[in-house]
Formats: sequence, structure tokens, C-alpha cells
Amino acid sequence: MGTIGTESAFAVTMRARALAAEGRSIVYLQIGEPDFDTPAHVRAAAKRALDAGETHYAPFAGVPALREAIAADVTARKGFAADPSQVFVTVGGKGVMLYAILGLVDPGDEVLVPDPGYPIYESLTRFVGATPVSVPIRMANDFRLDVDELASLVTPRTRLLVLNSPANPTGGVLTRGDVEEIAELAIRHDLWVLADEIYGRILYDGAEHVSIASLPGMAERTIVLDGFSKTFAMTGWRLGYAVVPPSLRETFGELIINTISCAPTFAQLGAIEALTGPQTDVEAMVREFRVRRDLVVDGLNAIPGIECRRPVGAFYAFPSVAGTGLSGIELAHRLLDEAGVCVLAGSGFGPHGDDHIRISYATSRENLVEALARIRAFVAGIVRG
Ligand SMILES: Cc1ncc(COP(=O)(O)O)c(C=O)c1O
Repeated sequence: MGTIGTESAFAVTMRARALAAEGRSIVYLQIGEPDFDTPAHVRAAAKRALDAGETHYAPFAGVPALREAIAADVTARKGFAADPSQVFVTVGGKGVMLYAILGLVDPGDEVLVPDPGYPIYESLTRFVGATPVSVPIRMANDFRLDVDELASLVTPRTRLLVLNSPANPTGGVLTRGDVEEIAELAIRHDLWVLADEIYGRILYDGAEHVSIASLPGMAERTIVLDGFSKTFAMTGWRLGYAVVPPSLRETFGELIINTISCAPTFAQLGAIEALTGPQTDVEAMVREFRVRRDLVVDGLNAIPGIECRRPVGAFYAFPSVAGTGLSGIELAHRLLDEAGVCVLAGSGFGPHGDDHIRISYATSRENLVEALARIRAFVAGIVRG
């Protein structure tokens, strides 16, 4: 356990809730989940399943009709032909990280992880006795990785490359050109790729989501991670999925049997409706996120000392706060304690996030306006000194 890391969002949320319980007014911008409820037709499908007695174990790989619906959706949206036998339904997309890393990475191997990036990639890599190698992600490059730099980090020990586009915590999106060059590198060095595409449908301004598995020679070396939490506002349902090459079917099956047996049956039956039913709620959520993105980015950029890019994916802003004279972690602490605004320090996502804070704009416009006013007043106070 000495090697395992964590996700700061959970601890920070507990601290903020404790302050709120003491009567403090807190605006929560740390939570990586949509504030919307799951669409009503999806909830109704799960309720019907419960009432129809769907309260038993499912097959370990998932309910067959859901695996078929996922395979069809993946084939249509991600641009590569997925067979239902390649689909494994897991408890959250997080489950896919666990199985990919447990299944592929040995002690002494190296895993290329985005920095800043979702902290669990690094944590699980250390947990299995392997070494995470940071791939710097910089604001100056619009939060896209630099492929030449990536190439310089590959060694004979590199086993797995983790990609996350659109990205948490930056909102960065890889272009088709980036993905093509990364694919070429992965093939040349015989790397496995874990492609975390959980934000793949949360895109703005016509940005394109390119699944690396759709490029020639990549489906056989890529584990695609996706799920229902973000797209369909289903975080509490705990449903994600992997699309794996045939060579990893046995590995994923064994790991699922050894850990969860299966994901919850009635939740899986609801998820079929999420994929095959009307998509109007998803579209409306993304439209609303886009409005909030502009509200947040424009509001942050109007604060002296803060500089924020306009992300084209996910629902996070990742401004640099270097101009305030505080590090991201100092500012995050002080915003919570002194201004009642809960954000995450960029350093929780890797050392390249030190000068940043992460703001989730998956909350109401009113909350965002209030938070921006508080941040502005607080920063004005420290800059005045
Ligand atoms: C990049 C990324 N991948 C995966 C997940 C896991 O999501 P879940 O386990 O809810 O499907 C998250 C959640 O915050 C995330 O940000």
C-alpha cells in the first residue's frame, strides 16, 4: 500500500463538506461529474428492469444486449469495427484502468502517463511495481502532448502508453495529426495503448474526437476505456466498459471474475436505453457545458494574474495562476478557507500542474458566477498585498 496514490477530489470534497457543515458558504467547483440527473428514460428503463426481477448476477463480461449496443455504438462513433465479444462491462471506467494495468504491466515496466493527468494511471502503475513516466502536457501547446518529446521518453522497458483525450484535468483534445503520429510511434515501439475516451462526446467548437483504435494496426494494441458516467450523467451507476483486442479477452474475463463477478444487472439494462434511446439530453447537456465554459474562461481571464485557455473538450478549465504569486496548491487552499470556493490544485494531477488549478464547470451558471466573483475579490486582495 506504500506505493498507491489517490485522487485528491475525494479528500478535498470531504474537507469542503465539513466546512459547509460548520455553516460556511461553499461553492463546489471540484467535482468531476455532471450536475444533471440521469435522463428520465434511462432511469425508467432501470426501474422496469428491477420490477421485472432483474436482480440476479449478469454474465461476467456484461449483459449480452448491452455488449451488442456498446459494440454498435463504438463501431458507429469511434470508427473501428468492434465485435460484442471484445466488450467488457466494468464497474466504472475506472475498472478498465485497473484491469489494463494489472493485466499488462509487470514490475519494472514503464508506463507513459500524461502529466498533468488523471492521477489513477500513475497510482495503479506504482501499485503493480512498475514505473510511471511523465509525459508533459503544457498550456503553451494547448494541452496537447508533444509527440517528439513523447518519442524521447520511450525506452526498451516501456510497456504501455496512456492517452486521455478529451483530457481531465486540462480539457485538451488531441488532433487527428497528433493521434496519427502517436499511433506510428506505438507501432514502431510495440507499445500497448490505454485510450481513455470517457469524455469523447463532450466536445465544443466542432472539435473532432479521433479514437486511436480506428487507425491502421492500432485496434490490436489498444484498450479503449469509455463509460456512462460523464456522457449520460450516470456517475453513481458505476458503469464503464472496455473494448479490447481478442488477445486480451481472456485476461479481462479472468480479472473481472476475480474482482467484481459482473457489473450490476439492472444498471446495465438501463444503460442499453442510454445508448439506444433518444440522445437529446446528451446534446442539451453538451450545449449547456459550452455556455458555461465560455462564462468561466472569460471570467477567469478577466482576473489579473490568471490565464486560461479555452478548452475544446470535457468540462474542466485549467488556468495558470502563476501571475497571482501563489502556487496552485496555495491558491486552492486559500480559496477554500478564505473565499469559500472549492477547486483542485493542479499539482494533484502531476508536477506539471503545479502552477494551475482545476475548475469543473459541471455546475450551474449561478454557482459559476458566484465563484468567479469570489475568486476575483480574493485574488485582487492578495495582488494588492
Ligand atoms: C479521465 C477519466 N477517466 C476515467 C474516469 C472514471 O470514471 P468512472 O469510473 O466514473 O466511469 C474519470 C472520472 O473522473 C476521468 O476523469
